[in-house]
Amino acid sequence: MKTKQTIAIIGATGNMGSAISKSLSKGNYRLLLKSAKQDELDELVKQIRSTNANAELDAISCPAEASWEADIIILAVPFQAEKEIATKISQVANQKIVISIANPLNETYDGLVTDPGTSAAEELQKLLPNSKVVKAFNTTFAADFSTPVIAGKQVDAFIAGNDKDAVETVKDLVSVVGFNPIVAGDLSVSRTLENMQLLLIRLGMKYNYNWHAGWKILHN
Ligand SMILES: NC(=O)c1ccc[n+]([C@@H]2O[C@H](COP(=O)([O-])OP(=O)(O)OC[C@H]3O[C@@H](n4cnc5c(N)ncnc54)[C@H](OP(=O)(O)O)[C@@H]3O)[C@@H](O)[C@H]2O)c1
Repeated sequence: MKTKQTIAIIGATGNMGSAISKSLSKGNYRLLLKSAKQDELDELVKQIRSTNANAELDAISCPAEASWEADIIILAVPFQAEKEIATKISQVANQKIVISIANPLNETYDGLVTDPGTSAAEELQKLLPNSKVVKAFNTTFAADFSTPVIAGKQVDAFIAGNDKDAVETVKDLVSVVGFNPIVAGDLSVSRTLENMQLLLIRLGMKYNYNWHAGWKILHN
């Protein structure tokens, strides 16, 4: 039997953090939920326990402490905050999987703040050179987690990373959440994945997808 993995979710009470936490609580994981908002964190723990009394959860207020205990660290925070957190966790995140879900959108949601030759995930990898940064969950909306099947189709969730084992581990995690995992390539493919979500956001605003939409590759 596989050993139970410990996952730290930094930014656990945000839209994505809470959606990811609720979904992962259905899997065989120990979750360390980090938020600066204690009341919202208590409420999230209560909600998760009401649907899954056996969920193994701990609320932790320090990102370094949560990351130290974790095998996998999910940064469910804005792009700018990723950098700030990276400096706090760099020592304790050595050799660990760090998942970047960020879309580095500009303030008007019509472009990315990153240069075309890089991505949020690659910038994070530069700050955490001894960690295994993997891009995941950036092409799925928070609302997709409670309903990962849209219009009868299981939503695809793309993954990019340089470490093969780390990518496989994240693939399992994406499946547990309920999405169809697709390994898209190495970490530089994050540039495309982050632009894909920019496009989906733009289309969602134009055609009113109500922040509940996803990607699906149809093939024979
Ligand atoms: N919303 C979506 O559908 C969606 C989809 C795909 C990807 N994303 C990406 O997911 C990330 C989170 O988006 P969101 O919509 O969940 O945002 P959100 O609801 O605003 O939540 C962000 C969380 O980040 C934490 N945070 C902010 N600044 C921080 C800092 N300096 N240090 C530590 N924690 C900090 C906050 O946690 P505290 O509780 O600790 O204050 C907050 O709960 C973004 O990078 C976004 O691009 C979002």
